[in-house]
Amino acid sequence: MGFIRNRSDLQRIVILNPKGGCGKTSLATNLASCFSLRGEVPTLMDCDSQGASMRWLEKRSKKRPSVYGIAAYRQSLNVTRTWQQRVPSESRHVIVDTPAGMEASQIHELIYDASNVIIPVLPSPIDIRYAARFIAELLLIAQLDRHEVRVGIVANRTRKNTRSLHQLMRFLSSLKIPLVAVLRDSQCFVTAAGLGIGVVELPDHQGRRDRVALSRLVGWLDQRGTSQSIASVVPVVTDTDEFHVGPFH
Ligand SMILES: Nc1ncnc2c1ncn2[C@@H]1O[C@H](COP(=O)(O)OP(=O)(O)OP(=O)(O)O)[C@@H](O)[C@H]1O
Ligand SMILES: [Mg+2]
Repeated sequence: MGFIRNRSDLQRIVILNPKGGCGKTSLATNLASCFSLRGEVPTLMDCDSQGASMRWLEKRSKKRPSVYGIAAYRQSLNVTRTWQQRVPSESRHVIVDTPAGMEASQIHELIYDASNVIIPVLPSPIDIRYAARFIAELLLIAQLDRHEVRVGIVANRTRKNTRSLHQLMRFLSSLKIPLVAVLRDSQCFVTAAGLGIGVVELPDHQGRRDRVALSRLVGWLDQRGTSQSIASVVPVVTDTDEFHVGPFH
């Protein structure tokens, strides 16, 4: 397997939300699965010392399309910065799974050089409030950098016509950040995770709607030309108690 430095053809996708359990690993592994089925060997970089993405990869059968894993949490920050040197030449995409509870400085380090940041958000009042504060903080960090990153939100574990979904949709429509996928609360994600595969690799009759949502997300990621500056997407968050924006801790 060859490694090349300074690759301009690599798309680095960072899955980010310091709130635990919102679906970062699930999204990272499903994206890795989607890209592997397209015939490349995507790189899955696990920055979480829990190592959940790497465990998913260990479960993945050698007969499945390959995903290359980097256990970045085992490396020092300096080594993490030189991530390009460790991505195999077969990779076009690097998907970065990040830990819960990160500090602003760590977030800054992780979004450095990213092509895309995807923020999974759960439809619960606590998660929505947390996301509002986190997104405000993220934009503040990125404004300091002023490098170009496309940011999208994924509504995860949604249930049709629930109050919490309406609340999430209301919150998302108040942001100038696109909602790039709506994923259902579905056992398919749990089943796929246990097998080291993505939902798109489940038998045809399982998770059809989830497959459509994931392929839309991949479609959004493929639109690399229409780069949107993270610094230009200032959130218009409603100034109510419900979505109060303040410093993120
Ligand atoms: N759309 C979904 N439907 C049903 N279950 C899901 C869905 N997405 C994630 N899950 C499940 O929710 C749990 C948490 O998801 P996941 O581990 O991806 O979150 P995380 O953000 O990576 O968590 P952490 O912050 O601890 O790393 C897992 O058991 C996962 O299988
Ligand atoms: Mg995780």
